[in-house]
Amino acid sequence: MIHFIGAGPGDAELITVKGMRLLGACDVVIYAGSLVNPEILKYAKKDAKIYDSSCLNLEEIIEIMRKAHNRGQDVARLHTGDPSIYGAIREQMEKLNELGIPYEVCPGVSSLTAAAAVLKKELTVPGVSQTVIVTRMGGRTPVPDRESLKSLAEPKATMAIFLSADKIKKVVEELADSYNPDTPAAVVYKATWPEQKVVVGTLKDISKKAKEAGIDKTAIILVGDFLEGKYEYSRLYHTAFSHGFRAAGNSCGKPGCREGMP
Ligand SMILES: C[S@@+](CC[C@H](N)C(=O)[O-])C[C@H]1O[C@@H](n2cnc3c(N)ncnc32)[C@H](O)[C@@H]1O
Repeated sequence: MIHFIGAGPGDAELITVKGMRLLGACDVVIYAGSLVNPEILKYAKKDAKIYDSSCLNLEEIIEIMRKAHNRGQDVARLHTGDPSIYGAIREQMEKLNELGIPYEVCPGVSSLTAAAAVLKKELTVPGVSQTVIVTRMGGRTPVPDRESLKSLAEPKATMAIFLSADKIKKVVEELADSYNPDTPAAVVYKATWPEQKVVVGTLKDISKKAKEAGIDKTAIILVGDFLEGKYEYSRLYHTAFSHGFRAAGNSCGKPGCREGMP
């Protein structure tokens, strides 16, 4: 069995309990060494064979998986954050399908949610934005024209921009038609790593601030009014609101529900 595992954003404690358990049970580990914190490897078996995929191509990765599978060994394939976001796992899974090798995916904490946690912000605040756009600027991997930042900017939703810290000036230019220049923006570099850096500002000055902080890679750019300013309370805990678990103005009435309340 091949286990694609989200290794989390950096802090070795941010791998899931399941991911840690699976990693500890595999004889072969292939980790994305350009981004995954090698400290995570402390959860691997003492005698596990460990490969860094940053210097391997797709065929070489699949060959390691195939050989391990033929020996009856399980493989932990560690991807940074959550493997479903810019993880390049689809082609690996398709090659495994062709070879008839079984695999599973164990999700992880994405650097997006880690960045929100570092900033202590909610990405989806009522009255401001209920949508998160996860995107990137085109680089060596092109982005389809219909998904240009300019067009995605129109709804002024919460914007999370990956893989673009080196192009932040261009990012700001692309957003300028839709977002007000005073729109809050933040850049989180290596969220949850010891060398983490956080830069906050507005679309007017975020590019300059990020440059001054020396950030040009491994960062998430977050843009939107969710970062600062007015918002509405969620209906979920609103006194006047009832839902399936609670009557308006009251608790649900379940025994223990208000235990410990003054
Ligand atoms: C190939 S993508 C992988 C994303 C990953 N699958 C995830 O869910 O976070 C790499 C990009 O993710 C972002 N990234 C990864 N780790 C990060 C971290 N700890 N802090 C901030 N951004 C990070 C950066 O934008 C980086 O260029």
